[in-house]
Amino acid sequence: MSRKLLMHVGPVMIDDDVLLAGVKDNSGFASPEFVTSMKNALNGLKYVMNAEYYQPFIMPGSGTMGMESVTSLLKKDDKILIVSSGVFGDRWKEIFSRYDVKYKLLRAEPGKAIPEDQVLDELSREKYRMVTVTQVETSTGVLYPVKSLVKKIRDRVDLIVVDAVASASAEELMVQDWGIDVCLTGSQKAIATPPGAALMVLSPKAVENIREDSISGYYTDLSKWINVMKNFQSGKSGYYTTLPVHTVFSLEKSFELIKNETMENRIKRHTLVSGIIGAGLNGMDMKIMAEKGFASHTVTAMMLDGLDMNTFLNKCLKSNVEMGTGIVPEYAGKYIRIGHMGNVNANDAISTVSVIEKTLNEMGKKVPSGVEAAQEYFMHQ
Ligand SMILES: Cc1ncc(COP(=O)(O)O)c(C=O)c1O
Repeated sequence: MSRKLLMHVGPVMIDDDVLLAGVKDNSGFASPEFVTSMKNALNGLKYVMNAEYYQPFIMPGSGTMGMESVTSLLKKDDKILIVSSGVFGDRWKEIFSRYDVKYKLLRAEPGKAIPEDQVLDELSREKYRMVTVTQVETSTGVLYPVKSLVKKIRDRVDLIVVDAVASASAEELMVQDWGIDVCLTGSQKAIATPPGAALMVLSPKAVENIREDSISGYYTDLSKWINVMKNFQSGKSGYYTTLPVHTVFSLEKSFELIKNETMENRIKRHTLVSGIIGAGLNGMDMKIMAEKGFASHTVTAMMLDGLDMNTFLNKCLKSNVEMGTGIVPEYAGKYIRIGHMGNVNANDAISTVSVIEKTLNEMGKKVPSGVEAAQEYFMHQ
């Protein structure tokens, strides 16, 4: 029996209709059906991001392609402030260190978020052109209070970039109302389609800041990609490099399903699922890495209290639940990451808690019942 629950941080479980939408044996990148699909997907992205008047982009690649393409808005010696809660926040530093720009990294301890005042202090000390912040830090499960930060720093920096790779379509994210300039995500996370597409939206101001003489490399150059996107938006085809045609058909379908569910209900569902998992882990006295008040609704990092991570995950896999390894360097190998984004429901959450409880007991850690705690929580929602 091979059916299992994929409670991972992406790729995640994919709806059959979304998968099947991508199964096309004869659609070229300039075919009428692809032009329509791309146009619909670009509109769907604006819906998910709550960014009606923004310029959407769907490009081949993954989340990191979107991250690196913000170099299209930068010139030599620009200063960037990086607000990081872990591995993916730190990735901005890895990216910018390859270009002729200056950056400062504010990095929180795993499980914590950089206090907003620290960001404000830094912005009053030094003039920065760009701030980057990660909404859900997938390596720690921390949800950054982006709305509140953006409100405080909006007038103090030219460009605010939000990495919503592990949050878009699952967490509250009002890109336009909050005043974010660039917001990016990937197809394989909460949008629940196959990997292969980098998705982003840019405010009119960010679009004005796309420079032909930017520091960007060839592939990530948004001054070239924007014309391709505008073509598709007006019902024409376009080419810069080959688009992930089949992933786009799936994206179009996924956005349709998301619209049918509505973002409001989708956020509620993710809140319920993460609440059940959190209650289950608390019930078993297992420590969650994210500090109280900062736990995301898409990823939960559970400390293993000395148990071997690979043995634990392999045992869970044998019980048909696949989860992710713990990767933040300070605690690498000492925790697991439970992904609960996309098509997850309450039953998946309870099954996951059940398998974790069984595995903990099998490995000699006798814990109070997590399933009971999870069920109790569920019954009172
Ligand atoms: C928050 C966050 N940012 C960026 C990335 C990088 O995305 P990708 O692996 O699709 O390049 C990830 C991947 O897990 C992520 O979780």
